[in-house]
Amino acid sequence: MKSTEHQEQMEKIVSLCKRRGFFFKGSEIYGGFAGFFDYGPLGIMLKKNVENIWWNMFVESPEDMYGIDAALVMHPQTYQASGHAKNFADPMVEDLKTNKRYRADHILEENGISVVGLTPDQMNQIIVEKGIKSPDGNPLGEVTQFNMMFQTFVGANADSESRTFLRPETAQGIFTNYKNVLDTLHPKLPFGIGQIGKSFRNEIAPRDFLFRVREFSQMEVEYFVDPKDWEKYFEKFQKKVWDFISTVGIDTKKVSELEVADEDRAFYSKRTIDFEFEYPFGKKELYGLAYRTDYDLKGHGEVSKVDLSYFDEETRERFIPHVIEPSFGLERTILAILSSAYSEDEVNGETRVFLKLNKDIAPYQCAVFPLLKNKPDLVAKAKEVYDLLKKKGIRVMFDDNGNIGKRYRRQDEIGTPECITVDFDTLEDNTVTVRDRDTGEQKRVKLEEL
Ligand code: GAP
Repeated sequence: MKSTEHQEQMEKIVSLCKRRGFFFKGSEIYGGFAGFFDYGPLGIMLKKNVENIWWNMFVESPEDMYGIDAALVMHPQTYQASGHAKNFADPMVEDLKTNKRYRADHILEENGISVVGLTPDQMNQIIVEKGIKSPDGNPLGEVTQFNMMFQTFVGANADSESRTFLRPETAQGIFTNYKNVLDTLHPKLPFGIGQIGKSFRNEIAPRDFLFRVREFSQMEVEYFVDPKDWEKYFEKFQKKVWDFISTVGIDTKKVSELEVADEDRAFYSKRTIDFEFEYPFGKKELYGLAYRTDYDLKGHGEVSKVDLSYFDEETRERFIPHVIEPSFGLERTILAILSSAYSEDEVNGETRVFLKLNKDIAPYQCAVFPLLKNKPDLVAKAKEVYDLLKKKGIRVMFDDNGNIGKRYRRQDEIGTPECITVDFDTLEDNTVTVRDRDTGEQKRVKLEEL
């Protein structure tokens, strides 16, 4: 695909998401709020399906995993210990005329300059030397570091004593609960703690729909190991990330690994692999897998003065466990799923749009239609079929609006794998028509075989 086609595909996905109730702009009736999106009725179903698969694969099924759900607002010392107060920053540059602020690395990339390993000072030098201007054509100021955490004040006073931050990653809630899990459930190394929840980053330049937003969900595991074993578990999670990618229906051909260079790794990591996805707007980070060493537990131990060491009864050694962290962004997952699933073909001379979502991910697994809306017998029978499937725990939608062709198109667009039509034969022989989303094939199936 050419870049204009990619752009068109992205526009089609964004438009479908809004039209069919997957996502809405945050605070839309006030004109929207940059960097914030609301999940609509179908979006929340998709989200829960992704979360359930992740939770099952990474927390519920493995014997050595525990789940938590920590508070979003944490003690301010958390961020001193984690290093976020000092280091969690992006390079920022200001248009001296309009005072609009931009990510300095984005401005350089847009001017065809590779930013790999560049410090803010070096970015500054390049901007001056090459006379790079803002997107509005104005001179740019100095590159500075902008801390991305959202501040908030806790309690009635709004002063430095009451100031803290919304968490920028779910990981810190895991590190601060590591000892609680150790003391209550007494797991032996290696073991891990998983969590799904919201994170907040005051991104300088939110962009590309759900890709870079200011409020998003993360699904993260912190896996605690003996330092001598870190490579083994790093590789184990590397494979597991691929398993997850294919299970949720992301096109694996569009995913690749990037070994992150020393100078580009986050401040806490000794090795990082980024899993990148070919989004319609370019190849970008989908997930990260990091070896966080003992950086976080050591930091929290020092600041809190709580002993976070682990005693190995077999070797009689005491040490701070090291950590392997697979980290998944939920919105980036959804965007990769939608980009992989978005399809078009031609039916009766018209373009048909359909989402090839797998059954576990699709908001609805099937839809039930009465052939005609104004025939009470058909509607009653269709309701019976709907109730039967619902009772079986299937995510099913009832639709009697418009002609059958239109109903098929609506279900195709939201990725419903099968549509079941109740017609006059159903009343006679208890069979229904089941139509497949991808092939359009229809077959007659007995109700008890549904
Ligand atoms: N705990 C490690 C951590 O937070 P990260 O690479 O900063 O590492 C992990 O973020 C994942 O969170 C990313 O790979 C991405 O999927 C998601 N993510 C990060 N920033 C995001 C943003 N502004 N909008 C949407 N997702 C984001």
